[in-house]
Amino acid sequence: MESFRSNYNKLFTSFFLFSALLLVFMSSMPITNAKVHHHDFVVQATPVKRLCKTHNTITVNGMYPGPTLEVNNGDTLVVKVVNRARYNVTIHWHGVRQMRTAWADGPAFVTQCPIRPGGSYTYRFTIDRQEGTLWWHAHSSWLRATVYGALIIRPRQGDEYPFPKPHRETPLLLGEWWDANPIDVVRQATRTGAAPNISDAYTINGQPGDLYNCSAKDTIVVPIAAGETNLLRVVNSALNQELFFKVANHKLTIVGADASYVKPFTTSVLMLGPGQTTDVLITANQPPARYYIAARAYASAQGAPFDNTTTTAILQYKSAACSTTTSKCVSSKPVIPKMPAFNDTATVTAFTTSFRSPRKAPVPTKIDHNLFFTVGLGLNNCPRGARSRNCQAPNGTRFAASMNNVSFVLPSNFSLLQAHQQGVPGVFTTDFPANPPLRFDYTGNVSRSLWQPAQGTKVYRLKYGETVQLVLQGTSIFTAENHPIHLHGYDFYIIAEGFGNFNAKRDTAKFNLVDPPLRNTASVPVGGWSVIRFVADNPGVWLMHCHLDVHITWGLAMAFLVENGVGKLQTLEPPPADLPKCN
Ligand code: C2O
Repeated sequence: MESFRSNYNKLFTSFFLFSALLLVFMSSMPITNAKVHHHDFVVQATPVKRLCKTHNTITVNGMYPGPTLEVNNGDTLVVKVVNRARYNVTIHWHGVRQMRTAWADGPAFVTQCPIRPGGSYTYRFTIDRQEGTLWWHAHSSWLRATVYGALIIRPRQGDEYPFPKPHRETPLLLGEWWDANPIDVVRQATRTGAAPNISDAYTINGQPGDLYNCSAKDTIVVPIAAGETNLLRVVNSALNQELFFKVANHKLTIVGADASYVKPFTTSVLMLGPGQTTDVLITANQPPARYYIAARAYASAQGAPFDNTTTTAILQYKSAACSTTTSKCVSSKPVIPKMPAFNDTATVTAFTTSFRSPRKAPVPTKIDHNLFFTVGLGLNNCPRGARSRNCQAPNGTRFAASMNNVSFVLPSNFSLLQAHQQGVPGVFTTDFPANPPLRFDYTGNVSRSLWQPAQGTKVYRLKYGETVQLVLQGTSIFTAENHPIHLHGYDFYIIAEGFGNFNAKRDTAKFNLVDPPLRNTASVPVGGWSVIRFVADNPGVWLMHCHLDVHITWGLAMAFLVENGVGKLQTLEPPPADLPKCN
């Protein structure tokens, strides 16, 4: 009896304690109706016909581009990826912060080994304080040429946009199409050491548009009614090309970029580097007609070949739409926008320097790591005895690219994150240099002896919570060009940009520490520099690279290793049970 009573008392006490705790816990939580979205992605070859010819294209669920995911801030995504293709694949959720969930980030051999043909892996992650447009893409070889789609993040349920609610929303994914298998294109480049073949078309939502052969009847039409406002979510998902974007006769009001809001500003032309997104409002305030939405190259590298074609969609006023009785629209040619010149860097600078955060931003001011990375191309001398057919870059060399003269090499038997978490030695070293090994006139006439980078798998180590300032300095080795530098797992403030060599004495005065834009990809000006700042508040191994895939192929990448902090909320989650194995 005695023991029964004491057990009963214990039970009662614990029940009471539990309920009290539950109450405290619930009242401390915001009222939320965050959802969990489940999706199945089947990566598979699908016949896709473009430019008069059918290719067996790698797609997700047979769609090109792949499915659009729509969520609210705070929601969780659970995406099961099944690989039915004949290539290794991974999916990266470009721009998603992945707080403590680095295992779901996706770059092959960085946060996971690839999903083998026949295998599968489920990505689980939560959207944490990001609103706007992001996207997802394959992150293995050049599969992202066709394996990509939009990720739309609306405000939390019950929250509003910080601008008048648009009548409609249209994602516009800018892509790049080869009349070939993109994997063959990159393999050939890797074999020869030369630059890969340029693409044959750009696309908007997978369609090249009126100006290409066999494409007119599939041109994307974006309907709009007079007076209506449409939120265009523009994504540059092209592989290797920065793009200008314009809508004939219409002004665009920029309200967001890379899933952060910006102080609205109005422009007639956008420039997006691969990886970047821009949310713009467009109002139907022009005479009812059909207007081209167009994108074509911003080609900043002097003398380098590029795809100079133009992709188009049509903004079609409802009152100008085809009527069956008159079929008027067939004869009315859409109005063509005047695009900037291919090398119009002045327009790009005016655009990129217009971005501001909507309000005062919490930019870190006490800096723990003051870093300076050179970013650019190089040329590797061919090893003695190498065949000339494998050394087809200029002067019998092979193309290379580097940060601080380290040309990044991915591991092949482990992911960096696994090696870090399991303490596997020999996969990477932690000696990525904080400064270039040699100072030189980066944007001047660089001596030939400085053209050859060294290969390495080096990371830069950061403690949890440390602050970083990073100068990204373009080089003019071989050629200077604009590099879209993307950091995984983080958003960063772009506090300044400029041309020539960064000079701390002169340029620190230009830092915007008040309302700089928050981005995940910075367009480092051709022959110039950008300065970014971030706080290392997300443990894991995070790739930073040029988002021109040709440059990643050549090694224009490095990774930050961010250590765990104190306690669960500052610690990387354990790896999911189905994380793909390398061997
Ligand atoms: Cu859009 Cu490394 O990624």
